[in-house]
Amino acid sequence: MDLFEYQARDIFEKHGVPVLGGVIATTPEEARKGAEELIGRGNSPVVVVKAQVKTGGRGKAGGVKLAKSADEAAERAEEILGLDIKGHVVRTVMIAEGAKIAQEFYFSVLLDRANRSYLAMCSVEGGMEIEQLAVERPDALAKVPVDPRVGIDQAKAAEIVAAAGFDAEIAPKVADVIRKLWDVYAGEDATLVEVNPLVLTEDGEIIALDGKVTLDENAEFRHADHGMLEDAAATDPLEAKAKESGLNYVKLDGEVGIIGNGAGLVMSTLDVVAYAGEKHGGVRPANFLDIGGGASAEVMANGLDVILGDEQVKSVFVNVFGGITACDAVANGIVKALEILGDAATKPLVVRLDGNNVEEGRRILTQAAHPLVTLADTMDGAADKAAELANA
Ligand SMILES: Nc1ncnc2c1ncn2[C@@H]1O[C@H](COP(=O)(O)OP(=O)(O)OP(=O)(O)O)[C@@H](O)[C@H]1O
Ligand SMILES: [Mg+2]
Repeated sequence: MDLFEYQARDIFEKHGVPVLGGVIATTPEEARKGAEELIGRGNSPVVVVKAQVKTGGRGKAGGVKLAKSADEAAERAEEILGLDIKGHVVRTVMIAEGAKIAQEFYFSVLLDRANRSYLAMCSVEGGMEIEQLAVERPDALAKVPVDPRVGIDQAKAAEIVAAAGFDAEIAPKVADVIRKLWDVYAGEDATLVEVNPLVLTEDGEIIALDGKVTLDENAEFRHADHGMLEDAAATDPLEAKAKESGLNYVKLDGEVGIIGNGAGLVMSTLDVVAYAGEKHGGVRPANFLDIGGGASAEVMANGLDVILGDEQVKSVFVNVFGGITACDAVANGIVKALEILGDAATKPLVVRLDGNNVEEGRRILTQAAHPLVTLADTMDGAADKAAELANA
């Protein structure tokens, strides 16, 4: 999960990373009040109004603007709110205290999957897009592997600032901030912490002026507070509903709803349906949904409920391979799920069962003879039937 800059700022503050005062606003009037409050703190006579969107290059797109008074902040907020930055519409701005910047630097730490490690990157040349720097002047970007068992301790932080070539005067201060940024990375279970720019102010302070943080959703169970950081406005309503039921669901934009057990089987089901769809008006899979091992009636009903709630869906393909949960249990799950849903179940279902106790599973479905259910013997046959029904 990517965070907004203001959320990253708050997390930085919690871990002792030096940041400037910042408040968020969704209207010019709120921006005026926020700016008044910040200017009133007396740290800085100016503020910066910053678009809060989960994409880079906000400054160049006109999403970061200086304001010398509360009135000006309201005007700048008026300009920035509603702006479209690379397809992201600005709904929120952050009003931040203005910094007197002497120099801009770059620091990030991220998960380096290829090397089963973490990687810290640091440069004394900030202000430029880092991707561009990495291509044009690779020597100016220090890359330092970080042993996951040790993390960034004092010695590693010193190694990073030395590799980047910081002046001896400020190197210890920068190293101290880098160690705190590591606390953010490790403590919050992040996969990316990036500060561009990390600045030296005219008063000799090192401050994180911008922050990009990606949190590892697999670690959410360890962080009760991370759920609140989710951007409810941006979440697909069907995905939100699926998440509430604990389902592994991803909305796609085709017409054939998919339910399967096991991520691998579901992925190949998507392929097979996309392939079959070519013969049936180009219909495509409508979603990914893995109901996992225990295909109980309740899980099946929840899954069907989400899929049938997708207006684009015209047919549903249930593709289950019975393993520990045998096919008869799955078949009973489907029958009971259709009972639970009653009139809410309106779209044809093609069911392909195979594996443990398949005969009994098929017998149960045949006997139930639900008018919406078609049984198929093979995965290809079922995909073809589901695509045909979706195109009807
Ligand atoms: N609080 C601030 N005070 C003074 N100058 C700032 C402040 N925040 C940002 N700036 C200036 O604006 C520039 C752009 O800001 P920032 O890095 O937050 O956005 P960006 O880099 O354009 O966006 P992104 O990081 O999303 O690509 C900074 O490099 C810095 O020079
Ligand atoms: Mg930046």
